[in-house]
Amino acid sequence: MPRVRGPMAARPEGDGPLLNARLFGDHDRGGYDVAVSPDALPWSWPATFGREAPLTLEIGFNRGKFLSELARAWPDHDHVGIEVSRRFAWRLHHLLSAHGPENVRIVWADARAATPALFQPGSLQAVFINFPDPWWKKRHHKRRLVQGPFAAQLAELLAPGGRVWVKSDVADIAAEIDESLAAVPAFGDRTTFGVDDLPLTFREVRCVRTGLPIHRFHYTRQG
Ligand SMILES: C[S@@+](CC[C@H](N)C(=O)[O-])C[C@H]1O[C@@H](n2cnc3c(N)ncnc32)[C@H](O)[C@@H]1O
Repeated sequence: MPRVRGPMAARPEGDGPLLNARLFGDHDRGGYDVAVSPDALPWSWPATFGREAPLTLEIGFNRGKFLSELARAWPDHDHVGIEVSRRFAWRLHHLLSAHGPENVRIVWADARAATPALFQPGSLQAVFINFPDPWWKKRHHKRRLVQGPFAAQLAELLAPGGRVWVKSDVADIAAEIDESLAAVPAFGDRTTFGVDDLPLTFREVRCVRTGLPIHRFHYTRQG
């Protein structure tokens, strides 16, 4: 996949894959501690993509490898990525603007705050959580993605039959997420999946190359 050169991608201008100007008032506003502007809500994904299509969400897209490849592999779906790092969000904006695919929109935000604001209950067909940061230090544990009410919120946002897909090479984090999802009554049983079932993420490529074990499992929203 082509790379944006230079230490930092330029600030995006106008409309395009990055939605921060529309959601937060400026492409310079995002990350932790920003709230979606009430003027932007309720947000309409069919209006944003210009069609009615099943919707997916990737949390923490980083370099965007998985998100771009998934969007090409599933052209009949529309795909949203939320990433808390501005550097990666701006870079992916430029990559998508130049090379597509066009069925992707991205948000620079904390997914725990933005996700419940941006998606209607039952509107998501899939949520992908790929190699979430472990946040090892105790004082950072509160930043871990799937804990507290977030697992139940994901279940509410998924359509019946929709899935939350998890990949991690950190056994403790995989177990913590597993436990949080298993505790939500709306989710069915945990099911494992294989390396070929979805595109590989950037980190996954490294793990596969070095032989690190990867935990891959999904939970399905019951009807
Ligand atoms: C270990 S990296 C994995 C990146 C990628 N998914 C992969 O598998 O190669 C975790 C990514 O999640 C992002 N992230 C961490 N917390 C987040 C949050 N609350 N909301 C959105 N993105 C987050 C980080 O900035 C980072 O890009």
